[in-house]
Amino acid sequence: MPALFDYLDQHRRRFEEDLCQLLRIPSVSADSKHSGDVRQAADWLVEHLRGMGLSAELVPTPGHPIVYAQSPPVPGAPVALVYGHYDVQPPDPLDAWISPPFEPTERDGNLYARGATDDKGQMLTHLKSIEAHLATSGALPLQVKLVIEGEEEVGSEHLENYLAEQADHLACDCVVISDTAQFAPGIPAITYGLRGIAYYELRLTGPGQDLHSGVFGGSVTNPAAVLVRMLTALVDDQGRIRLPGFYDDVVPLTTAERKAMAALPFDEGAFMRQLSVDGLSGEAGYTTLERRWARPACDINGLTSGYQGEGAKTVLPGSASAKFSFRLVPNQDPDQVTNQLRKLLEPLLPAGIQMELIDHHGGPGMVMPLTSAYLRAAAEAIEEGFGRRPVFMREGGSIPIVSAMVEKLQAQVLLLGWGQNDDNLHAPNEKFNLDDFHRGIRASAALWNRLATLSPEARVES
Ligand code: BES
Ligand code: MN
Ligand code: MN
Repeated sequence: MPALFDYLDQHRRRFEEDLCQLLRIPSVSADSKHSGDVRQAADWLVEHLRGMGLSAELVPTPGHPIVYAQSPPVPGAPVALVYGHYDVQPPDPLDAWISPPFEPTERDGNLYARGATDDKGQMLTHLKSIEAHLATSGALPLQVKLVIEGEEEVGSEHLENYLAEQADHLACDCVVISDTAQFAPGIPAITYGLRGIAYYELRLTGPGQDLHSGVFGGSVTNPAAVLVRMLTALVDDQGRIRLPGFYDDVVPLTTAERKAMAALPFDEGAFMRQLSVDGLSGEAGYTTLERRWARPACDINGLTSGYQGEGAKTVLPGSASAKFSFRLVPNQDPDQVTNQLRKLLEPLLPAGIQMELIDHHGGPGMVMPLTSAYLRAAAEAIEEGFGRRPVFMREGGSIPIVSAMVEKLQAQVLLLGWGQNDDNLHAPNEKFNLDDFHRGIRASAALWNRLATLSPEARVES
C-alpha cells in the first residue's frame, strides 16, 4: 500500500500532463467535422493503455469506435469492468470561455477544458490507478476490463450491440463508472440511481415559405403558435407531465428514501445563488432534491422559428421546431413515452400544419439496492481516497447504457463520481478540480484492493 500511494504522489504532475494531452483532442461526437478528432482520442487511449502494460484494441462501430482493454485474469478474485467515455459535448458558445475549450488551463486548483470532468478526467483516474498497481507490483489484484466509448454524449447508439455480442467476453462482477459528481465539495458520494431520458425534436411546417404577417396573418395557421401550444400542453400548472399514462409505471418514492434525502446537507439558498436564480419550481409536493433525482421532468432544450435578427420583422414563419426531452425514473420505458407523446400531440395538430416528430435517443433510468458488498468496498475505498465516508445520492442526469449493462452483464454497478455540481459540464468553462482528480485516483487504486479481497460468500450475498 505505501509503495502504491507513494507512486501516486510521485507521479502527480505527469498524470496531469497526460490528462492535458487527452483534453487537447477535440473529440466532439455530435459534430461530424470532428470525427477525425474522435478517432484520434480513441487511438491515444489505445496507445496509452498499451503503454501501461494492458492489452488494448480499437473496436470499430458504424459510428465512433469503442476502446477495449483488459488485464490478465486473476483466479478466485472478482472481475471489474470500468466504463467511461472519451467523447465530449460541443464547446459552444465559444466566446463564453475564459480560456479556449481545448487548451487545458489551470486556475485556482481547477483544470479548465471541455471534457475535464465529463468524462476524460474522471475516466482517466481509473487508468492511472491501474498504471500504479502495474508499476509497483507488476500485476493487479483482480482482473479489470475497460470499455471506453465515443458516443455517450449522442446516446450510446452502437454500444448496446457490442454489449449484446460480447456479453461473454465482457462478463464481470461489477461495473465501475466515474461519470457523476460528489454531493458537494468535501462530501464524496456513491450514486445509486440515475434518471433515464427520452429526447425528441418536433418540426412543424405551415406555408411553403415565410409570409408577410399583415397580408396573411389571422387567416393562415402560424406554425410557431402551434408549436407553443403543443409545448405548453406537455406540463400542467402543478408541474405534472400530461402525457396519457405517463405516471402509470413510475416507482413512487418510499418514506424511508424521502427521509434519507431530506437528511442530506442540501442548502437550497446556496443552490439558487450558484445558478443565479431567485426562485425554483417543479412538481408540486416534492422537494428540490426529489424533483432533481427521483421524479420525472420535461425540458425544452431548443426553439427555432421566425425572425431572430436585430429589430422587428413582420413575418409569419413557414416553419417552427423545438427540441425537448423528458427525464424518466424507474420503471418508465422511453418507447412507451414516445407513443404517449404522439397520442397527446396528434389531436393538437390543426389544419394547414404538417408535423414531424423525431425520436432522437432514449434510455431508462435505474436505481440500485444499497445493500451489496461491492458498495461497502467502494465506500471504504472512497474513505481512503477522500478521507471521508461517502453519502448515498441519486442523480438527475442520465448515462443511457447503464441499465443495459446491469441487465446484459448481470453485474452490480458502482457509480463513483469525483466531479462537483459546479463543474460546468456541457457548459462553457467546464472544469475538474485537480485535488479531486488525485483523490479519485487514490480511491480507485484502493478500490481494486478492496474488491479483490471480497470473499466469494460476500459477493454472492450481495
Ligand atoms: N456524465 C453525464 C451524466 C451526468 C450528468 C451525471 C450530471 C452526473 C451529473 C453524461 O455524460 C451525460 O451528459 N448524459 C446525458 C445523456 C444524453 C446525452 C443521452 C444527459 O444526462 O443529458
Ligand atoms: Mn459523462
Ligand atoms: Mn455529458
